[in-house]
Amino acid sequence: MFDVYTSLEKSNHSQPRVTALMACQNNLMAASWHMPISKSPFRYAVAVREENYTHTLLKEHGAFSLNFLPFEYLDIVDMTGRIHGNTVNKLAKSGLETEGNDEHGNVLLKASDFIYTCKICDTYSNGDHTIFIADVTKIYVNENQSNKPILFTGRGRYTTSSQVTIVKQVL
Ligand SMILES: Cc1cc2nc3c(=O)[nH]c(=O)nc-3n(C[C@H](O)[C@H](O)[C@H](O)COP(=O)(O)O)c2cc1C
Repeated sequence: MFDVYTSLEKSNHSQPRVTALMACQNNLMAASWHMPISKSPFRYAVAVREENYTHTLLKEHGAFSLNFLPFEYLDIVDMTGRIHGNTVNKLAKSGLETEGNDEHGNVLLKASDFIYTCKICDTYSNGDHTIFIADVTKIYVNENQSNKPILFTGRGRYTTSSQVTIVKQVL
């Protein structure tokens, strides 16, 4: 048996998504609506709502970094998803250390498991988010991986992966 809804808000269902910190210049925004869309060239898409300050910054600067932090940073990530960067300096408020900036001026966060630096090559608008499609210009991989991604399940709830299962490939 299913309960059936016609809107995402009303259905209120759990939809676990890896959540990253999107940095445009020094502004940080929690982002869970993102995905790889091409392997070679490696391209990535992120959906950003027009009302977010990040949307203005992306249009202005044409680039961003996506910082994938371990689960222990979830309070900080959540904070960046609740306030707007045109009124508060979220980077300063987060207390996160940086590893400098990428070649486009976007901050790189030291605590990240991995980081994609991205240069926007296309946009697509349909609905209430703009999809920013970007070339991933560099991939930074932390030599100490947590293997504990931040998974946002909606409704202010988070979880992480509890086990890794290796499925052997049959040749
Ligand atoms: C876990 C989480 C994930 C989010 N994912 C997205 C997203 O993918 N796209 C988006 O536009 N907003 C997303 N948001 C909302 C923005 O992060 C939020 O509106 C933020 O305050 C925008 O900051 P800014 O105005 O500084 O850009 C998310 C919020 C949370 C808490």
